[in-house]
Amino acid sequence: MQPGYDSVAADYERAFPEPFQTPLERHAVGAFVDSVKEPGVTGQVVDVGCGTGHVTAVLRGAGLPVAGVDPSEAMVGIARASHPDVPFQVTGPDAGQWTALAEGHVLAGVLARFSLIHVPPERVPGVLESWAERMPEGGVVMVSFQAMDGGRAVVSFDHAVAPAWRWHPEVMSDHLMRAGFAEVWRSISRPDADHRFPECHLLAVRSHAEIPQDPASCGCRVE
Ligand SMILES: C[S@@+](CC[C@H](N)C(=O)[O-])C[C@H]1O[C@@H](n2cnc3c(N)ncnc32)[C@H](O)[C@@H]1O
Repeated sequence: MQPGYDSVAADYERAFPEPFQTPLERHAVGAFVDSVKEPGVTGQVVDVGCGTGHVTAVLRGAGLPVAGVDPSEAMVGIARASHPDVPFQVTGPDAGQWTALAEGHVLAGVLARFSLIHVPPERVPGVLESWAERMPEGGVVMVSFQAMDGGRAVVSFDHAVAPAWRWHPEVMSDHLMRAGFAEVWRSISRPDADHRFPECHLLAVRSHAEIPQDPASCGCRVE
């Protein structure tokens, strides 16, 4: 259940009829698709916090075996009505809850666009670990989130719909690394008339490489 998004789902659909607001967003998702299609892991892709499902449908259109998951029943209702050929599940971001991911199937990719921002920061490491548990080496994760430039912090912000936190990209990257993902690239767009904060798209791959033991690397403030 996601009371904030449940109450605005119809307005949200009207406000954001297109899957992408900027060319960078479109290209970042395109790069995610290309990475998942590279020879390597065969498995399912899950769009976490898929909302009205328009990006999930883009992934499906690109030929990926994708399901969408989202805690908002109203958002998923719109997704199901708009994209009847795509499986959706009303559930949280933890892979242990996903019946949309068939038993025994592995994750080839996870896309989480502007949805981890709504997960309380102390829960994010466990969520990332749940993805890593179902993903063999070479699987691909892309997270997109409102960010910040300085301070190595996680800061709550006044999101219009639900409690939300924006992340220093380095801190998100550290959490991914500790869960078993190695960052490949990140992009950061600057604030503009439509975006109050920098926005980060960060792509990482599942890796069994040893995690550097740097006790300082995950030091972040939660504000
Ligand atoms: C800004 S929308 C983004 C929707 C979609 N990912 C997109 O790119 O269009 C945020 C979505 O995150 C979902 N959400 C809220 N809390 C969440 C949580 N704890 N875990 C996963 N998704 C969550 C909301 O229901 C909403 O659909």
